[in-house]
Amino acid sequence: MQIRSCDPGDHAGVDAVLKAAFPTPAEAQLVVTLRAADADTLELVAEDHGRVVGAVMFSPVTAIAANGSQAYGVGLAPVAVTPEHQKRGIGEALINAGLDYLRTLGVPWCVVLGDPGYYSRFGFAPAAQMDWYWSGDPEGEHADAFQRLALGDRPADPAAGPCRVHYHPAFDTV
Ligand SMILES: CC(C)(COP(=O)(O)OP(=O)(O)OC[C@H]1O[C@@H](n2cnc3c(N)ncnc32)[C@H](O)[C@@H]1OP(=O)(O)O)[C@@H](O)C(=O)NCCC(=O)NCCS
Repeated sequence: MQIRSCDPGDHAGVDAVLKAAFPTPAEAQLVVTLRAADADTLELVAEDHGRVVGAVMFSPVTAIAANGSQAYGVGLAPVAVTPEHQKRGIGEALINAGLDYLRTLGVPWCVVLGDPGYYSRFGFAPAAQMDWYWSGDPEGEHADAFQRLALGDRPADPAAGPCRVHYHPAFDTV
């Protein structure tokens, strides 16, 4: 099994992985839209015996503070592994490889919307702890699921909390 960057020849394989792993094709369409919008900051695939069995994408997000100041990071989504290859560490390898590469790029932080039981193993913690919230959750109903990970050793972001974090508009359809 090899983790590597996604190239156009992998797109059909990524599409198949996303459609197999998620209940609807929404995530597969999301990835197509993000690529077309040049919002695919980083896309990695897991290849096993010549076949794409997992994929992860990171795209730009903006944190906007109450005073209007902005900070820029990335959002992790979607990540998927074909059902028959799950629970073998492929998802973890994809995410760790992505986060490591983003660190080398100097990306300051990453957010994710998902189960803390899974993402806490990478160091993600509820973003609400630092007064950061997902813009798509005005009532705070998913506050535990919205998590953030600092990628560098800079102590603070330019945007002080409270902040609203905005994903690319393509996420509005998911
Ligand atoms: C989430 C996903 C990418 C993980 O891939 P994977 O290769 O199976 O993950 P790993 O082998 O690295 O880790 C498996 C562990 O994650 C746990 N896990 C998987 N999905 C989880 C979830 N949604 N919530 C909590 N834990 C989860 C498994 O129970 C397993 O736990 P263990 O290590 O204690 O046994 C994969 O399960 C998947 O494609 N799911 C469907 C798509 C999806 O929900 N993507 C995430 C959207 S936020």
